[in-house]
Amino acid sequence: MAKITLSIIKADIGSIAGHIKPSKKLIEAVKNYVSVKGKGLIIDYYISHTGDDVAILSTHKKGVLAEPIHKLCWEALLKGTQTAKDQGLYGAGQDLLKDTFSGNVKGMGPAVAEMEIEERPAEPFFFFAADKTDPGAYNLPLYLSFTDPMHNSGLILVPEVKKGYKFIIMDVSYTDADKIIELNAPEETYDIAALLRDPERFVVESIWSRASGEQVAVVSTTRLHNIAGKYVGKDDPVMLVRLQKNFPAAGEILSPYALTPYVAGFMRGSHNGPLMPVKENASISFFDGPPVVSCSGFCVKNGKLTEAVDAFDQPFWDYIRTKASEKAVAIREQGFLGPAMLPYSELEYGGIVETLKALEKRFILKK
Ligand code: F6R
Ligand code: MG
Ligand code: MG
Repeated sequence: MAKITLSIIKADIGSIAGHIKPSKKLIEAVKNYVSVKGKGLIIDYYISHTGDDVAILSTHKKGVLAEPIHKLCWEALLKGTQTAKDQGLYGAGQDLLKDTFSGNVKGMGPAVAEMEIEERPAEPFFFFAADKTDPGAYNLPLYLSFTDPMHNSGLILVPEVKKGYKFIIMDVSYTDADKIIELNAPEETYDIAALLRDPERFVVESIWSRASGEQVAVVSTTRLHNIAGKYVGKDDPVMLVRLQKNFPAAGEILSPYALTPYVAGFMRGSHNGPLMPVKENASISFFDGPPVVSCSGFCVKNGKLTEAVDAFDQPFWDYIRTKASEKAVAIREQGFLGPAMLPYSELEYGGIVETLKALEKRFILKK
């Protein structure tokens, strides 16, 4: 079996009416570029958006971090940015932080999640995209799907799944290089939890099957503020997860999303809000949120993708969306107090620091 690579490169390059969704013209511009310039380079592609982020999923044989693939996607995003500028969209090109392309898009603003795989005879996988949140949003769902029989019955029922999974976790606060640790579930499950409980610092980068050594999952781990030196929008992460056989079943990967955990993001990237599972190409609304996640399922054969199935487009998830809405209203009843807003280090705006500095001078010690 030949190896193929699944690549997702995504960025916020502009949207209508604030940070709601990109225009049809913008999406068309990206699509046209990839379909024309990708000929002979990529095998297949799928372009979608989640909230204000446009994602290019492509399949090819060039491996991860391949210059021609990254260049194709970077230039497609530049084309989309030009359309965004022409239409006067808000935040045109906001995630494209560098002027000149150098090798690959890592560190240039777009989020990247790529996996080179030996295609199985049947190769089902999920492509997740989240908006108004950051890569730590996947911490709890991944932890539960890969370590907890409450969500993954395969951990009890399937010998290969029971062998467990290796987690590679990244300390995203370290900016000089990719600082990672490898931990094995089930033996080190509590150590994994000890790190993942701090999702702004420790983020799952990838997961590997211990039965076969194959890679199961990859998450985009970029921190936009580490690249730009200041916050330029939440990282809005993408993820690929392979399914079935040695890996969790589709429903075992989806199961934790019924919990709608509170994640960082929401209004101005500075609040906590419930992670709402939404349909593909969803838009953003209440309090510039809530944080959303979409999931498209595919099978791939010799690099050719089937049509996408929308994993959260099913009546069960309407009930969960109602629950997420209730949780969103509940935390908004907390206004700007305590857990409703993120700590200073995570706020997307520096304004409050200046306010506090100015107020500090006005404090007096009472006699
Ligand atoms: C994420 C997102 C938000 C904005 C934030 C800043 O997709 O849209 O995190 O980056 O609300 O918005 P501006 O730049 O308009 O102040
Ligand atoms: Mg945005
Ligand atoms: Mg976004």
